[in-house]
Amino acid sequence: MGLPSRLALDAIHAYQIPTTERAGLLRLDVNEHPCGPDPQVMQAMLAALSPEQVATYPLYAPWHAVAEGYFGVTPGQVTCTAGGDDAIKAIVEAFLLPEKVLLQLSPTFDMFAHWARLYGNPIAEVRHRADFSIDEGAWLRALDAAGDRLGMVALVSPNNPTGALASAQLIEQTLQRTTAPVILDETYGEFAQSHATRLLDTYSNLLIVRSFSKVHGLAGLRVGAVLAQAPVVADLRKVLNPYNVARPAIAASIAIMERPQLTAKWVADVKYVRAEFVEFLRLHHIAVGPQHANFVLAQLGEGAARITSALADQGILVRDRSGSHPDLQGWVRIAIGTAAQMARVQRALAPLLS
Ligand SMILES: Cc1ncc(COP(=O)(O)O)c(C=O)c1O
Repeated sequence: MGLPSRLALDAIHAYQIPTTERAGLLRLDVNEHPCGPDPQVMQAMLAALSPEQVATYPLYAPWHAVAEGYFGVTPGQVTCTAGGDDAIKAIVEAFLLPEKVLLQLSPTFDMFAHWARLYGNPIAEVRHRADFSIDEGAWLRALDAAGDRLGMVALVSPNNPTGALASAQLIEQTLQRTTAPVILDETYGEFAQSHATRLLDTYSNLLIVRSFSKVHGLAGLRVGAVLAQAPVVADLRKVLNPYNVARPAIAASIAIMERPQLTAKWVADVKYVRAEFVEFLRLHHIAVGPQHANFVLAQLGEGAARITSALADQGILVRDRSGSHPDLQGWVRIAIGTAAQMARVQRALAPLLS
C-alpha cells in the first residue's frame, strides 16, 4: 500500500535505468562519451578528493566564475545542476503553473512529460516530418493554438532521439510567440555548434539546459547547468538543492571548461566518424535520421530487435527504440564512439545487415 501524494504517482512509471553494470562494454546505447574524460580532467577531479575536501561542503563560487566565461553569460545568469535531469525537474517545479499545458516535440526526451504528468499538467505534442526534421509550421500552430493555456515549452535541440536541430529562427519565433517559460535543452548542442545563449538578454522566458554528461564524458559525476536571466536563475536556486553537485564533479567540470580545446577536438572527431558511419549505413541501404548529435538513428526494420541483441552478444550496446513511440518502429539509436570503436561496430554490423 503506497502513501498519499500531492503528485500523480499512479499515473506514471519510474524512468527505466539500466540494472546491470555497463562498464567494459562498448556503450553506444545512451549517448554517453565512449571513453570518459581526458587524464588532465581526471587529475583535477582526484585532487578534489582529499579527506578535508571530502569532509567539506562544496564551494560553487569558483565554478560559477569559470562557467560565466565558458558559456558567455554575465554574473548571475548560470547555475550548476546535477545534470540536465536536475535542471529539468527544478524548472518544471519552479515555473510550470498548475493545469497549464506543456508543449513539446514528439518523440523527445522523456523527462519533461514525466514531471508534467506528475504535477497533473496536460501535454501537447508536435510530431516531426517524415524525415524526422521538426515540422516548424505545426510547431508554431500548436504554440498559437495553446494560447493562454500554454504553461511551458520544451524544445530539445538537437532532439533526442530524432537528432533533429531547431533552427535559430524557430527558436526565436517560439520565444516571440509566448511569455511562457521556454526550456531549450541543448544537451547535444555542442555537436551542432548550436547555442542560443545570445538570446538570453532579450528573452526573460528563455531557460537553456546544458549538460556535462554527453560531450564532456561526466555522466557518472552528474553535472549540468541552466542559463537564464539573473532573476530567473535566482528563483531557480530556491528550488534546487543548495549542495546539488558534489566536489569531484565541480572540480572535473571546471577542468573541462578551462580546456575548451579538448571538447573541440572530441566534437570534430565525432562529426568525422559519424559521417563515415552514416556512409556505411547508406551503403547497406539503411535509412538514417538527422545527424546533428553524437548519435544516429538507423532504420533496421524487422531486424531491429535481432540485430540489437546480436550486437549485445558481442559486447556492443545500442538502443532499439521500437515500442517507445509509434514512429520509432524499427529505428535503432547508435551513439558515435571513436574511429576504432565504430570500425568494430561496422565489422559486427555488416554480416547482420546482409
Ligand atoms: C535531451 C536530454 N536532456 C537531458 C538529459 C539528461 O542528461 P543528464 O542529466 O545526464 O545531463 C538527456 C539524457 O539522455 C537528454 O538526452
